[in-house]
Amino acid sequence: MQGFLTASALKLPRSSLHTAIRAGWVCFSCRRNGALRPTTLPSYRRSFSSSPARRIDAAPKPYYVTTPIFYVNAAPHVGHLYSMVLADVFKRWEVLKGRQAYLCTGTDEHGMKVQRAAELQEVPPKIFCDGNAETFMDLAQKANMSNDYFIRTTDPDHRETVEFFWGRLRERGYIYESKHEGWYCVSDEAFYPENMVEKRVNSMTGKPFIASIETGNEVEWTEERNYHFRLTDLRDRLLQFYKENPQWVVPASRMADVVSWVQNNLEDLSVSRPVSRLNWGIPVPDDPSQTIYVWVDALINYLTKAGYPMWTPGSENALGWPADVHIIGKDIVRFHCVYWPGLLLALDLPLPKRVLSHGHWMMDSRKMSKSIGNVVNPFFAIDRWGVDTMRYFMIYNGGISQDSDYDNSFIVERYKRGLQGGVGGLLNRVTRSKAWNVRSIIQKAHEGGYNALVGECEPMQTEITELREATDALSLKALDFFEEQLNPGRALKEIMEVVFQANRLLQHTEPWNLVKRGEVEAAHQIIYHAAEALRVAGILLQPFMPEKSAGLLDRLGVDQGQRSFDHARFDSDSAYGVSTVPLWGRRTE
Ligand code: ME8
Ligand code: MG
Repeated sequence: MQGFLTASALKLPRSSLHTAIRAGWVCFSCRRNGALRPTTLPSYRRSFSSSPARRIDAAPKPYYVTTPIFYVNAAPHVGHLYSMVLADVFKRWEVLKGRQAYLCTGTDEHGMKVQRAAELQEVPPKIFCDGNAETFMDLAQKANMSNDYFIRTTDPDHRETVEFFWGRLRERGYIYESKHEGWYCVSDEAFYPENMVEKRVNSMTGKPFIASIETGNEVEWTEERNYHFRLTDLRDRLLQFYKENPQWVVPASRMADVVSWVQNNLEDLSVSRPVSRLNWGIPVPDDPSQTIYVWVDALINYLTKAGYPMWTPGSENALGWPADVHIIGKDIVRFHCVYWPGLLLALDLPLPKRVLSHGHWMMDSRKMSKSIGNVVNPFFAIDRWGVDTMRYFMIYNGGISQDSDYDNSFIVERYKRGLQGGVGGLLNRVTRSKAWNVRSIIQKAHEGGYNALVGECEPMQTEITELREATDALSLKALDFFEEQLNPGRALKEIMEVVFQANRLLQHTEPWNLVKRGEVEAAHQIIYHAAEALRVAGILLQPFMPEKSAGLLDRLGVDQGQRSFDHARFDSDSAYGVSTVPLWGRRTE
């Protein structure tokens, strides 16, 4: 199942016709039927040594997209793969448009959850993290992610950024010490107020326990002295920001939850734990008896790789900050949409432009989760189905507002319909027929100009015109879904719709039969339109399926220089048509 085509094609290497229509031409069937942001530098830290030297200039802000950083307490599953692929598709989309773009992913390595997982395995935490972080790196690579950074929260540059950030918060008076009592959930690495927990009974052991209502995970009563962040001082600024940016969180329903939570439940945030409880983390600067709360540490990762705080005045955003979009799962909306903007506002740093929160992948009606154990190994899935098929399936079937069910049969179905039948079928029909030569058709189309599209065979002409219009409108439609709606899945469906539409045209008009009947120009006109739909779809499919789309464009003979967003318009390439890869024999249809 690696190719667009049939099983035998799996081994394939990766790697205006417009001839005016002859006056009076009428297609065969019609004839028959009689119808026709900034901080300048540190006051807190005098030396901020080891941030890697990176290119800083005053160019326009590069695009910057992030994934959540994944806890290394267990191996990745396809839910993590989904966040990765989504972020990668956004980055590749910007690159397609010719924009400098950065993608950051990585691992969240501190905190109780990881500390306990390492203890259980009787391995020193750093060694434990090294092993598991590598698995996530391998996954990023296997998923063909074009990430520019893979951050680990145990990295020295990240630790310096977090220490700096903490120092600024303290200087500005946002940190105070106080006694904290409350329920802490290690699995969620979160404190919950009394009204967000309830008694439950463990269905396996029959033992009662207290759980978070939201996540169902067990909570523990904790009483300790720690540091707090004055989040409540920022309530008005947060609400003002949400009001001015109603589209900040996608989808809108989660934006509404965020606003309501800030209006009704906002409390100061506990931002450290006594080292006696949590020693695996970044110590509070100047108070080694406390460890910084893992979520504060984790959220700052996005700034570390954006070069903060080593920003050159005037070029603060040279490495992309503020992020254009944080991709996150719906389980971590509050951390990203309340705590994170709160922390940034406290330092007057620019806020991320958008947050895309996606739904969960479910297995047997439960969230696929490392803690539950109902997970699909993404390495096995990619080995079995191929990286691009998995990328395609996850974006096509993956939910934003809704959760999605995962099942192998759904992958098979998507593959058969979209890749094998849809794209593969169309590619074969266009390029493997002996009845015409694609290059000459393209050439002829550009010599003749396609505006003369007229004909007396109305149903067929309407279908051809509709395909041309759909092909021409496709890039802007996809752009809207990507950039306004943050919905690459919808963009993908639009692209595939054009592929299906082109296939329908071929089915209805059977150009191979037209040729047999001597209606060569009509057949060529149809093939030109089908080839254009395929070329434009192929260009736009590149962010989703980098390898398969490259193979497709090679088969169509589209030059490397002609594969950018600007070429995804009807009639914008007159030079393609000679395959740069073997066609594996021609066939007639
Ligand atoms: O929350 N379906 O890490 P994490 C879809 N370290 N996506 C899923 C999923 C599922 N069943 N399960 C997980 C953390 N994910 C923190 C993040 S960011 C500063 C710190 C995805 O390993 C989803 O995006 O528990 C979720 O938010 C992410 O994996 C992180 O999972
Ligand atoms: Mg999680």
